Amino acid sequence: MSTENNTAAERDRVIVFDTTMRDGEQSPGASMSLDEKLELAKILEEMRVDVIEAGFPIASNGDFEAVRQIAEIVSESVVCGLARAAPGDIERCAEAIRPAKRGRIHTFLSTSPVHMKYKLQMEPEAVLEAVTRSVSLARNLCDDVEWSAEDATRTERDFLRRCVEAAIRAGAKTINIPDTVGYTYPTEYADIFRDLIENVPGADGAIFSTHCHNDLGLAVANSLAGVQGGARQVEVAINGIGERAGNAALEEIVMALKVRGDRLPYQTGVDTTHITRASRYVSAITGFPVQFNKAIVGKNAFAHESGIHQDGMLKHRGTYEIMTPEDVGQGSTNLVMGKHSGRHAFREKLKELGYELGQNALNEAFQRFKDLADKKKHVYDDDLVALVDDALAHGTDRIQVKHLRVVAGTDGPQEADLTVTVDGEERAAKATGDGPVDAVFNAIHEVVPHTAVLRLFQVHAVTEGTDAQAQVSVRLEEDGRIATGQAADTDTLTASAKAYVNALNNLFARKEKSAPDATKVASGF
Ligand code: KIV
Ligand code: ZN
Repeated sequence: MSTENNTAAERDRVIVFDTTMRDGEQSPGASMSLDEKLELAKILEEMRVDVIEAGFPIASNGDFEAVRQIAEIVSESVVCGLARAAPGDIERCAEAIRPAKRGRIHTFLSTSPVHMKYKLQMEPEAVLEAVTRSVSLARNLCDDVEWSAEDATRTERDFLRRCVEAAIRAGAKTINIPDTVGYTYPTEYADIFRDLIENVPGADGAIFSTHCHNDLGLAVANSLAGVQGGARQVEVAINGIGERAGNAALEEIVMALKVRGDRLPYQTGVDTTHITRASRYVSAITGFPVQFNKAIVGKNAFAHESGIHQDGMLKHRGTYEIMTPEDVGQGSTNLVMGKHSGRHAFREKLKELGYELGQNALNEAFQRFKDLADKKKHVYDDDLVALVDDALAHGTDRIQVKHLRVVAGTDGPQEADLTVTVDGEERAAKATGDGPVDAVFNAIHEVVPHTAVLRLFQVHAVTEGTDAQAQVSVRLEEDGRIATGQAADTDTLTASAKAYVNALNNLFARKEKSAPDATKVASGF
């Protein structure tokens, strides 16, 4: 390829910046443990995501440790940490990303009138000075610095230009223009990028980035419009999780760029065959189910139900398919194995589904598969995904369900007889309740006393049929802290008990964390 072509290729390359573990984890209820974050970082790197925003190091020791350990294990992707415009934040972030081969500090400050007046209680000139000081400090600690103008899309244009110029002068290499409240629309957002790129001195040396929230359902459309306006980085999250209505979904943007190269002649480096695996994993660890009709990763995204569509598909796939399930890593076969399937076939099938397990995890998963195959005639791909994700999610739980017997039926009260282990020590209790699930949860209260309140109890059948596994999600809240748990089992009540206990484990782990104080922004300057 000639130098001229290389330059053109670079110009059209869109950097994919994943914020599932930072903005995504800010979704109410979407907590991830350290082990889950490490596993997700590996998946993202295999998928060839360019930048992984691994957390907000000043927020808690847990966040700091997650960013630091991800920085240690990731070698290809850039590992990024978030920091407010305060020296303590930026220094803590620099410390967390220090082990990274390629680290980035992402620092931000609000620039809109409403944020400056009420949130920061700072005058615009003071904000401008804080931009210069915070970016300069970050640049002293790290070569790769990104600066974000929080609430950029509600910022006065002239002031936004001045802030962006100050950030570039101070050494920011990436300038992010967040649509923090999901307020903009495509043509307006594209225009902001064109304006900044054309009019801000030094803009040609920086990479501009989109960061869109989905409050009006426009996050993906706005991000793509931002790219058309000149942005060459997109900030996205798997399954579109994030604050409130979420962030732009990674899978939708990446596939839109891939499928509509005729209109959007830009490339990402993402290996799209890892998308389904990443989506399922994020859904499992957050407990956020993916809606059936969700673009790219929904259960029905490639299902053709009506006779006319099925007939068309049989004649030519192109009649109703603009991309194939294989493009996004959905295996072409679905019916898998039964109880006679061997370990080798099992490992190969897991590989096809995107799982590379170590020997111990593989042995454990294989045993669980055999147990499941004893109970269930056909084991489908979705069963295997639920089974492996369940094993990964529960592996480090301190409280484990050991035994459960429930009496249910028309003549109450329903009863549950439960034994759990807490750090290996057995505890047992019997309880009654208004229905079998209530009895199970009351028994959990007896063995592990707590004050958490149940906020969500949700049951899905993993596949069709009366022998299908039930996948249960439970969300608990205690003192404003929210934690989610998930479990799958052919017995709905066992899955319910395990999901509740998993949520409790996550809640107790979360207690060690504490949220950052948003009012302390820029206070150090
Ligand atoms: O939405 C937002 O403005 C953010 C910034 C911290 C980048 O998440
Ligand atoms: Zn955001």
